[in-house]
Amino acid sequence: MTRNVSLVTGASGFIASHVVQQLLETGDQVHATVRSTKNEKKIRHLLDMQERWPDKLSLFEADLLVAGSFEVPMKNCSVVYHIASPFFIENKISDGQKEVVEPALKGTENVLDAVQKCETVNLVVLTSSVAAIFGDNADVLEMKNKTLSTEYFNTTSSVNHNSYPYSKVVAEKEAWKLYEAQPIPRRWKLVAINPGLVLGPSLSPTSESGSLSLLDQLLRGQLFLGVPDFWFAIVDVREVATAHIRVARDPNSHGRYILADKKTYSFVELARIIRSIAQSIKIPRNKLPDALVRMSGPVLGLSQKWLRLNLGISFDIDNRPSLDQLHIVYRPLEETLMDHYQSWKSAQTVLN
Ligand SMILES: NC(=O)c1ccc[n+]([C@@H]2O[C@H](COP(=O)([O-])OP(=O)(O)OC[C@H]3O[C@@H](n4cnc5c(N)ncnc54)[C@H](OP(=O)(O)O)[C@@H]3O)[C@@H](O)[C@H]2O)c1
Repeated sequence: MTRNVSLVTGASGFIASHVVQQLLETGDQVHATVRSTKNEKKIRHLLDMQERWPDKLSLFEADLLVAGSFEVPMKNCSVVYHIASPFFIENKISDGQKEVVEPALKGTENVLDAVQKCETVNLVVLTSSVAAIFGDNADVLEMKNKTLSTEYFNTTSSVNHNSYPYSKVVAEKEAWKLYEAQPIPRRWKLVAINPGLVLGPSLSPTSESGSLSLLDQLLRGQLFLGVPDFWFAIVDVREVATAHIRVARDPNSHGRYILADKKTYSFVELARIIRSIAQSIKIPRNKLPDALVRMSGPVLGLSQKWLRLNLGISFDIDNRPSLDQLHIVYRPLEETLMDHYQSWKSAQTVLN
């Protein structure tokens, strides 16, 4: 009875919407949590999924900060996909503790507290991030072969420096602590998914995900003068959703899985591809000089320390477990950006 009931937290969000859709496509029964079932604008895509897959998707209200709120939605579930957590770009965060760290940590504690009480759960898939592995790009240069791998945890972030990465490392560490604390034999397994910057089509036009807002700035022409020499580990949202489901279906899945292409991409490369897709001269094709970016740090909301540790730093990524064990096939970046642009364009008509 309980084999194929899955709980997805934060189902209004960019990544979770794809996880819900892929679960429904493969015949699972899904319990999905959102902050408010009355906010129709935010959950329109989920209501559409309820129509498309009748009796397969149930919506529940739950808040990361409210103890006990995941207990009812979790009833009868065997797998918990804990995806909800606020993700904002660093220069948009004014109070890191309140805006990202508290909800990430308290949310993980509340969800796992419900897991401890719910005897049917045997697996928790936690959406962590590469940000739980490194804080600044310069951190990766200290890793073996200057390559990002799951052997490491981010040790350089704090509430005051990279608060979002800090929120992800404290949340993931708390999850492993609670997993380890179970009496042996452990009832539930924990697997972490650690994606890079997630791009691609959004099913939820109102999502405030940091990765969507980063490209939104570019697409609106707000960066028409040029982009800083930033480098990102990148992955398509559909691959991230597939990885969540594959780890749940594979009895041998374990530990952490980085989801990202094996090299980083520069912001200017992203801008050039999007410029040719959107055919828009508002999208820059040039990189801003580093000296100018450093001078504009205070205006951009980026500290000199942050710029020193990130500007112009690329690295390699060990994504082999995602290829060898989860059989993820990473699609070309051009396809991801084309689909991202198309969904951004149609969201503009829905939202305006
Ligand atoms: N996008 C990326 O590049 C990326 C990369 C690596 C990891 N991740 C991780 O992936 C997960 C989802 O991110 P996303 O990109 O899909 O962002 P998103 O669209 O903003 O989704 C975040 C979700 O968290 C929910 N949430 C936030 N605060 C909450 C609270 N107090 N109570 C209940 N729900 C709350 C949001 O609900 P509302 O809709 O009600 O606000 C939303 O559904 C996060 O854990 C993020 O750290 C994202």
